[in-house]
Amino acid sequence: MSTEATKTEVGSYFISNYPPYSQWTPEAIPEALEAFSQAPLKVNAQGLAQEVPPLGLYLHIPFCRKRCKFCYFKVFTNVNAEAIERYVSALCQEISLVAEQPIMQDRQFRFVYFGGGTPSFLSVKQLESLLDRLHRYVTWNGAEEVTFECEPGTLSEPKVQALKQLGVTRLSLGVENFSDAILEENGRAHLSKEVYRAWDWIAAANFANVNIDLISGMVGETWENWRENIRKTLELSPESVTIYQMELPFNTVYSKGILESHSESAVATWPTKRDWVRYAFDVFQENGYTISSAYTVVKDPSKVSFSYRDNLWRGSDLLATGIASFGHVGGVHYQNVPEWDRYLGMILDEKRLPIGRAYRPTQEQRLIREMILQLKKGYLQIEYFRDKFQVNILSKWLSQWNTYASDGYVVLPEDPKASDAKIRLTTDGLLRVDGLLEAFFEPQFRNVRYT
Ligand SMILES: C[S@@+](CC[C@H](N)C(=O)[O-])C[C@H]1O[C@@H](n2cnc3c(N)ncnc32)[C@H](O)[C@@H]1O
Ligand code: SF4
Repeated sequence: MSTEATKTEVGSYFISNYPPYSQWTPEAIPEALEAFSQAPLKVNAQGLAQEVPPLGLYLHIPFCRKRCKFCYFKVFTNVNAEAIERYVSALCQEISLVAEQPIMQDRQFRFVYFGGGTPSFLSVKQLESLLDRLHRYVTWNGAEEVTFECEPGTLSEPKVQALKQLGVTRLSLGVENFSDAILEENGRAHLSKEVYRAWDWIAAANFANVNIDLISGMVGETWENWRENIRKTLELSPESVTIYQMELPFNTVYSKGILESHSESAVATWPTKRDWVRYAFDVFQENGYTISSAYTVVKDPSKVSFSYRDNLWRGSDLLATGIASFGHVGGVHYQNVPEWDRYLGMILDEKRLPIGRAYRPTQEQRLIREMILQLKKGYLQIEYFRDKFQVNILSKWLSQWNTYASDGYVVLPEDPKASDAKIRLTTDGLLRVDGLLEAFFEPQFRNVRYT
């Protein structure tokens, strides 16, 4: 995606890491294994003592009732109970392998994230059995946040209650849109009545944080309907709302259709999608919400944080488990293999970690990664980077900041030496933040394929 892009073309992507995934290689797998086999790093690249980074656990549940036409995640549909059981066994086995690695030592998980696919696709029985087995190897009693992603139509009252009992603190619900016609057009498995049915059970269970996911720019979206989406979301009064602007990476059903028939994308333009998010941010703010990132508004920031996001964006370790998941340990990025048979075989038959590619970022690349991810929050604290990387990010990238300041996307600090000096994004900048990030990439990673 570039700053200038107007049409939503096939090949746009969402930046979640650095260097780009396409640069991670099988040749670097030994470095990831080596990182697992060592005690957590206690010194930084300059040899200075530092705290052991926070640790998170990500578990990927790759099943969905239907494949949404816009979705770019690794998901499987029409999977029978036997295959699910095999997958869940492999996931537990993978966690047992990870748990015995020296990198774990006596570390506690600060946050846990069940993502997908659709974790809520699992039945209550499958869920209880998964957690029963997992707790033989790891616990998350000390975790400040346990997130669980749900698709509305997969929930039942007993399942919601089970999630609460299993320790979920943050339930994230994929509402996406309230119009049944738009949900159907985009291949969603759920309809709006399933949102309302699930909402009563969710409200009764009293989770610390319930998040609603929406997408700006589903096929068929209009201004009138978008206003309704925001009104109906506010009516439910969730603790936080996440709004993604529709992307069209290569591997979605829509993208393949567009490429095969040489047709125009039916997704709204970037300026329209930004206008919809801007409208949503304005209305949420009028109703007491605070913008906490380019994608998120929060009802009460003093009560609700987002530990997974904030720790990850500050360079925490993340043990990623499940097919195609990506994580970071002891200074090395890694991603598990994306093929079903290979993932299961490596764990269940060969009894080894299913890592498919890895990359050891340099200190410079770790700095860039944290800077571009934190920019998504709308501001950068200059002192944070000076303390952690001994780099002044304002002077190092002054020409980029000056360009963005004159474009109206960035406001530079009046006193850059002040201890709380911040580089801030304007609303215009925040709404197009993913398009601003490539300018900070090292030259060899600009214009390369991202994933
Ligand atoms: C793993 S799904 C959430 C849980 C569940 N699978 C569901 O969809 O209800 C993560 C979120 O990614 C977002 N998403 C998926 N594909 C997208 C795309 N092409 N562009 C923007 N957002 C997308 C959707 O908002 C979705 O809720
Ligand atoms: S958006 Fe969610 S439900 Fe739809 S295919 Fe992707 S992971 Fe599955």
